Amino acid sequence: MGVRKTIAVIRGDGIGPEIVGEALRVLDTVANCYEHTFVYDDVDMGGVAIDKWGDPLPQEMLEKCLRSDSVLLGAVGGRKWDGVPGDKRPEKGLLRLRAGMGVYSNNRPAKIWKQLADASPLKREIVEKGIDFMIVRELTGGIYFGTHRTEETDGQLCATDVLRYTEREIERIGRIGFETARKRRGRLCSVEKSNVLDSSRLWKKVLHGLAAEYPDVELTDMLVDNCAMQIVKDPSQFDVIVTENMFGDILSDEASMITGSIGMIPSSSLGDGTRGLYEPIHGSAPDIAGLDVANPIGTILSAGMLLRYSFGLDAEADEVERAVERVLDEGYRTADILGDGVGCQKIGCREMGTRIAQAVRDAKG
Ligand code: IPM
Ligand code: MG
Repeated sequence: MGVRKTIAVIRGDGIGPEIVGEALRVLDTVANCYEHTFVYDDVDMGGVAIDKWGDPLPQEMLEKCLRSDSVLLGAVGGRKWDGVPGDKRPEKGLLRLRAGMGVYSNNRPAKIWKQLADASPLKREIVEKGIDFMIVRELTGGIYFGTHRTEETDGQLCATDVLRYTEREIERIGRIGFETARKRRGRLCSVEKSNVLDSSRLWKKVLHGLAAEYPDVELTDMLVDNCAMQIVKDPSQFDVIVTENMFGDILSDEASMITGSIGMIPSSSLGDGTRGLYEPIHGSAPDIAGLDVANPIGTILSAGMLLRYSFGLDAEADEVERAVERVLDEGYRTADILGDGVGCQKIGCREMGTRIAQAVRDAKG
């Protein structure tokens, strides 16, 4: 018996509509092959919502997401909306969605695909030691959600952004870190800036307070600047990194790059229930929008994570991952993962989606 689920779909801006279109093609194929019904509910968010409704996330759009079983997102933002005030920017819609859905735990895998080892900017001997770690990023607190203010003091402008964390916020993300490590190789690295910041000292204290409950997990600490260096020096040392919102934003871009392309990395954002927000970690890339050259794989893998973590459809999620693997094995590449191109064929966004969907269909026979 198949399942029936509603998915709120946020195509967003820039390349968003193209990459989401391909992910839906793959989801439709999964639905077909496994007799599921996925009902898509379109949601406007980001620049497109500003243009249409004067608000990056109108309340009724948030409510559509809260009524859905899960949410799939492409990307939001673009230079067109650079001039709009901070609280009306496209990105603000995304932040309000994350807060509104209560998805405090953002999981971003950094894994090298063997087919793409040449696309990594790291030296081969570093890549060969293996890259397979997970960044668990706190997503609804910290400096992103503290007070933001710009005022005039003594004849000059002065801007403030507050980085604030409560023990409770740190504890719940800390637990996700330990639990994630427990399911992997049992090593958790807590990343902070406790040599300077109070919020980081509290972070470290809370993490160590939890350690006794997870005796099977080895907890280590690392300062964020050192972590940025270690990620390029020897990424094989990491299993799970748990860190606060802004550090996680920065480190996850770095981590994605060493795996070959930011276009490959999916993410899940979850709170206490099963409704999640799934999005590739890259942005809306307005410079290549509409050209059919974007890489849809990060979004397709996000849809795979949605099947696994929100709907419990592990076999289907495995199938999506294997389909990506197969298409890469066959040598098909979008421009961002072409590397030196030897033995590969360059294809566009649409063809990549079509081929992955076809691979899902073929596997099911
Ligand atoms: C990300 C993005 C967002 C973030 C932006 C678009 C607000 O960079 O998901 O990593 O900073 O969280
Ligand atoms: Mg980011």
